[in-house]
Parts: sequence; structure tokens; C-alpha cells
Amino acid sequence: MARTPNFAAGPAALPLAVIERLQGALPEFAGQGAGIMEISHRSAAFDDVLTSAKARLASLLGVPDDYAILFLQGGASMQFYMSALNLLGDSCAPADFLLTGTWSTKAIKEAGRVGAVQGAWDGKSVAYKRVPRPDEITVRSEARYLHYTSNNTIYGTQFHTLPDVGLPLVADLSSDICSRAIDVSKHALLYAGAQKNLGPSGVTAVILSPWAVEQSRRTAKARQGGLPSMLDYGLMVDKNSMFNTPNTFGIFALDQVLAWVQDGGGLSAMSARNQAKADLLYAELDRSDFWVPRADVDSRSLMNVTWRLSSPDLEARFVEEATAAGLHGLKGHRSVGGIRASLYNATSLADVQALVGFMRDFEAKS
Ligand SMILES: Cc1ncc(COP(=O)(O)O)c(C=O)c1O
Repeated sequence: MARTPNFAAGPAALPLAVIERLQGALPEFAGQGAGIMEISHRSAAFDDVLTSAKARLASLLGVPDDYAILFLQGGASMQFYMSALNLLGDSCAPADFLLTGTWSTKAIKEAGRVGAVQGAWDGKSVAYKRVPRPDEITVRSEARYLHYTSNNTIYGTQFHTLPDVGLPLVADLSSDICSRAIDVSKHALLYAGAQKNLGPSGVTAVILSPWAVEQSRRTAKARQGGLPSMLDYGLMVDKNSMFNTPNTFGIFALDQVLAWVQDGGGLSAMSARNQAKADLLYAELDRSDFWVPRADVDSRSLMNVTWRLSSPDLEARFVEEATAAGLHGLKGHRSVGGIRASLYNATSLADVQALVGFMRDFEAKS
């Protein structure tokens, strides 16, 4: 069967050129006489992969030299707890959260097991149709950090400026990392599950400021028996993400995706491409009342475009006919319904053109 446009929210489309490179590394890799999944994580060949993946991520995102980069397991969901445990766990210290949808609500719930958390803005009253303006954010001066979700995968909203209100930032970048430039130096910690813009599921990139690493060490000292090893950033930094066996294949795939991003012109080129794709789809949504875009214009996500039709039945028919036409992954998240087209880096302008063509035909015959 031929590959078809894939608008899934994650795991999501990967560039075909990357998949072909991964395929080539499966039977034999780098003169090892064994494939990438079969060599030791302690081998020099894998060490090169890990070093390369860190260097590419640092170069693409402009990660300051004194920051640490980890590739962990447990998904972004583990970071909801792990970040709070390390950054607040020495004294049950406070942290503030921007509640912009499902994932930030999950993040605050997990952090609340460790510290005194509070919403600094809650988008529930606006049905998560937008992210807050800076003047709407109320933080506590004693809060150690402000946590935000850069892109809200389910509701289809995205921060287009940093919520820079004077606190160190902790960011969940799972669904927009490497889709555009970001000022890493404003952040104490950033994390992202790989399965949207970086590679396959099962590997999570975590970027830590020196303060975050120090804070982790303080917490480990303050707690009787230290931190659980697998949840200890300081230990993971000391062991270069190899306290235990890392997701070797996932890290290799991530390195190949980042090489593809670099070859494609880096984040400025990705950002321009992503803007062009999103502009095309939003222009179609704005063209006719047949489509009802979910997000407010200023907060629209370039990664996950969400909209409704006049009834759930019509939405179901849209998804069914789109799938039959070879356009996959368009069903909205089960918690909110509707339609969602995810336009991560690997989605091409031609994929979006095909979607818009299908939408016009669908509207015409409905
Ligand atoms: C913004 C965001 N954060 C967190 C998660 C959870 O990620 P994981 O499944 O890697 O734990 C997701 C998953 O879609 C997400 O979109």
C-alpha cells in the first residue's frame, strides 16, 4: 500500500527520507555487524549517536552551553511529576501553572503531589479557545517557576509569545518543539515527548538550566534516601541519560529527524513552511461558515488545527470520507470531538493542499 497524507496528532508522520535511513540501519549499522537496535548502548557507535543527537538539538534550538540535554523514557507525562519532584521536592515549594487545556491540567495534578501548585490563569471559562495575554496572568512572587504548555494539542491553541512574567519558565513543548525558534535561555526546564516532531514515541527530550540541575541536587540531598534514581535529573545528567538502558533506536531516529530538519534549512525554514501550511488551512476554514474553527484567531495553533461542523454526524461522515480518500488521522481528540489536522514538520504543503481540495468537494456535495 502506498503512503498517504497523515494528519495524526501523535505518534505522527515522519519524513519518508528519515524512515528510509532508519530502514537502512536496521540490518547493519556503522560497521558494527549488527543493526542499530542490536548494539550496546555502551558502544562507541551508539555514543556517537547520542552525542550527535544532543549536538543537533542544542544547535537547532540555541541551547546555552551550560544547559544539560537528556533523553529519557516515560513520556511527557512522566515529566509532569519528575519536573515538580526535582524542582519543588526539597521543601514542598510553590509553583504556578497556566491551565490551557488537558495536558496542563494533567501537569498541575501531578505536580500537586509534590508542591503547593496553583493556576495562574485558567482557560476553562473560555472553553480553552485561547491562551492568556500576559496581563491576565497572576503569579505568586514566591513561586519557583511558571509551567506552561507551549502548544495545546487537543484544543488547537498555541502561545505565540512567551508568557514571560518574571518567573523561570518550565515548558511542555511536546507538540511544537523544533517547529519554530524559541528562547531556551528564558527557561529553567523544557521537555517534549518525541512522537510528534522529533521521532517515535518512547523517548522524551529534557533540557535543563544549571539552576534546574542544582535544584535537583538540593532536593536529592534534602530527602531522606535521596530521589528515586529513575526520577533524579542530577543522576541522569551525571550518567549522560544512561543510568539504565536508554531507548537506543528512538534516540537514533530522533538524531535522523534532526539531521533532516538541519538539511531542510533549520528552524527558520521549518517555521516558514509551518506558517504557510497553517495559513492555507485556516484560510479555508475562514472562507465558509460550513466550517467552525475552534480556537480564537490570536491563539491559533500552527501545529494542530481544530474545527467543528454543524453536527457530530456530519463530522463523522467527514472523517470517514476523508479516510476513504486517503487522508488519515483527522478525527478530533475523543474528549472534544470535531476535526483535528496535525501539521507537524513532516507534513508537506502538498498534504495540506490535498486536504483543502477534499474539504471543498465535501462542502460542495453536503
Ligand atoms: C502537549 C502534550 N503534553 C503531553 C502529552 C503526553 O505525552 P506522552 O504520551 O508522551 O506522555 C501530549 C500527548 O499528546 C501532549 O500533546
